[in-house]
Amino acid sequence: MRQHVNPLSNNFNQIERIPSLIEMFGDATLNLHLDIGCAAGEFLFDLALVNTSWNYLGIEIREKLVKNAKIKVLEKEIKNLYFIFGNANNILNDSQNKFIIQNLKSISFNFPDPWFKKRHYKRRIVQSEFINVLSNSLQIGTLIFIKTDVKDLFDYMDCIITSNSYFKTIDKKDLNYSVSFNPNKVKTNREKYVIDNQLDIFERIYIKI
Ligand SMILES: C[S@@+](CC[C@H](N)C(=O)[O-])C[C@H]1O[C@@H](n2cnc3c(N)ncnc32)[C@H](O)[C@@H]1O
Repeated sequence: MRQHVNPLSNNFNQIERIPSLIEMFGDATLNLHLDIGCAAGEFLFDLALVNTSWNYLGIEIREKLVKNAKIKVLEKEIKNLYFIFGNANNILNDSQNKFIIQNLKSISFNFPDPWFKKRHYKRRIVQSEFINVLSNSLQIGTLIFIKTDVKDLFDYMDCIITSNSYFKTIDKKDLNYSVSFNPNKVKTNREKYVIDNQLDIFERIYIKI
């Protein structure tokens, strides 16, 4: 078991300079998907390969993983994939980085750290303030995908997101995938483990209205 990184530690108050979308991607005009807590980024590498008509951005709090992912992007000369190191909350809260949220077409929270103890709930990535930051700047129609194998965490995230009146749940079958490429086509590492071990998966999709 890996030791979870405490996102509230002062270590993450300093945010690296985030380049513009033009610096990040070969074609900055493509639709943009953000994966929050992307770990080593395998899910995004797979997506970037199967769907070259979208740009993919990952934010991850474990620096080494981001460093390695960035090297792999350069080695493989992938033009529609970029990784950012840091606490996604701090990064997206920063007014200088509002352009990221404003340009998104979809976001995924795949198997976020559960932080089981009640006194640690504040370390969970999905928080009301964070969802407000997203709802303030996301375009109408932007999708949020959540997925977890922890029912309590699912309920926690679902309650927070649906408490924000700018988001409503949307059924899979009502999604227009010509507008929103379905990231669920690709399995994340944690998801593969969960499937292999026949654990439950709790998932939902929300749309900004
Ligand atoms: C359980 S792992 C899931 C990884 C991957 N999404 C998957 O499904 O296989 C959760 C990931 O989120 C990262 N993480 C946790 N809190 C974060 C935060 N505030 N900002 C960015 N990444 C975070 C962790 O370091 C970890 O890599």
